[in-house]
Amino acid sequence: MQVPPPAQLPLSKQLKAGTRREHDSVDALVMRSRPFESLERYGYFLRLQHRFHGSINGLYDDMELNRLLPGLSELPRFEAVCTDLTDLGLACPPAPVPVAPTSTHTALGWLYCSEGSNLGAAFLFKQSQQIGLSAEKGARHLAAHPDGRGLQWRQFVALLDGLALSESQREEAVGGAVAAFELYRAALRNIFPAA
Ligand code: HEM
Repeated sequence: MQVPPPAQLPLSKQLKAGTRREHDSVDALVMRSRPFESLERYGYFLRLQHRFHGSINGLYDDMELNRLLPGLSELPRFEAVCTDLTDLGLACPPAPVPVAPTSTHTALGWLYCSEGSNLGAAFLFKQSQQIGLSAEKGARHLAAHPDGRGLQWRQFVALLDGLALSESQREEAVGGAVAAFELYRAALRNIFPAA
């Protein structure tokens, strides 16, 4: 009797499983860098967000990625990060060098990392309110989408999970997500003075 192949995980679940360690390490590093201790430290956090969202901003306008993920071009948060910097009277640094994922499928992983970070942003947004920031001042890029974070994320996940990818294309996506977390971690170490 033939044993059936193991059921394939939905892509979003494969991405989550493949980046759990990276996520937890980045989460711990962010908390250890105390971004909400003062406006000064929050300024470093904004520069970190500027580096991350700035390097992937171009992916949101990519035609092929928008074909795979309709509505993608409405989601980037880079402009909001720039406005947050301006709100705090901080100069917006030059746009960082854009990332160049090796394939469209690798780019999907980068976008998963960026869009998923909206979930953790709920917690970060609450912390930012304790230092006087809000969706209108300084923490625009952490605020929920008008339709709610949950809905926006579920829609994104449904699009990812609806893609028909081969096993190697899925692995490329996981590789892209890991690379995105690595960029974030390296940028954090580079930008925060004592992280
Ligand atoms: C202190 C910082 C952070 C905290 C406290 C945090 C917390 C969380 C929480 C609570 C979730 C929801 C988990 C779930 O529903 O199962 C989540 C999901 C996620 N976060 Fe974070 N996060 C942080 C930073 C980040 C950063 C910096 C990134 C990306 C650069 C990121 C990427 C993601 C992704 C991709 C998911 C989706 C996981 C999934 O597939 O369900 N997070 N985070």
